[in-house]
Amino acid sequence: MKQWRCKICGYIHVGEAPPEKCPVCGAGPESFEEIGNQASSDTYLSESVSDLAVNRGQIQGALFQIPCGLFVISTSAHGKNNGMINNTVFQITDQPLQILLGMDKSHLTTGLIEKNLSFAVLFLRPDQIQLVKRFGFQSGRETDKFEGITWHAGETGVPILDDCGGYLECRVQPEKIWDAGTHRVFLAEVLSSVFQPGVQLLNYQEYRSRKAELWVAENG
Ligand SMILES: Cc1cc2nc3c(=O)[nH]c(=O)nc-3n(C[C@H](O)[C@H](O)[C@H](O)COP(=O)(O)O)c2cc1C
Repeated sequence: MKQWRCKICGYIHVGEAPPEKCPVCGAGPESFEEIGNQASSDTYLSESVSDLAVNRGQIQGALFQIPCGLFVISTSAHGKNNGMINNTVFQITDQPLQILLGMDKSHLTTGLIEKNLSFAVLFLRPDQIQLVKRFGFQSGRETDKFEGITWHAGETGVPILDDCGGYLECRVQPEKIWDAGTHRVFLAEVLSSVFQPGVQLLNYQEYRSRKAELWVAENG
């Protein structure tokens, strides 16, 4: 059975053809790239390949139920400001104050963080859902995602949106960056934060239920 990877969000689909619509980010079949066949070594000998495809779909469906936030991860290196949408930020320890961040290796932002070793986690409010389109559906390799919006440099020099729901500024040591196949995992220390208690934040579940709005606004 073929495997297809969404170039936008990294979702893996198993089937003869890419799906009509990515269940995670809503991208169409043109955003999927074939990444080969599901290796037989990945499979249980007693199950048929189609059973596995169904089982994998069920597991992915269950994984999407895990509540998580939705953020802009911003950074700056080589004179380039950039940011991308991410839903894998988790607090790990309180002493020291550390978070875990997962980032697809193919994204520009990931390489910039490996260079700079600093980044910010920008919280978005529900009324800022259109920023998901700006930061999550195009690469900084082709555009300046900070053009036309006001921002300032944080303590570490990374770009921070003037208007957002709050932010964390983080630093990572090279020995706390791990390889996770398609992704890099960063265990980072939180250096500072700005946050107004009580402010409502956009999360991944709300984004998924409202994502059609991103494209309706564009079409009129
Ligand atoms: C809703 C949504 C969630 C996303 N979550 C992640 C994520 O958790 N990790 C990741 O590596 N990419 C994630 N992405 C994909 C990146 O934000 C996207 O590919 C971005 O355009 C990469 O930009 P860059 O190449 O400028 O870094 C997500 C995209 C969307 C729309």
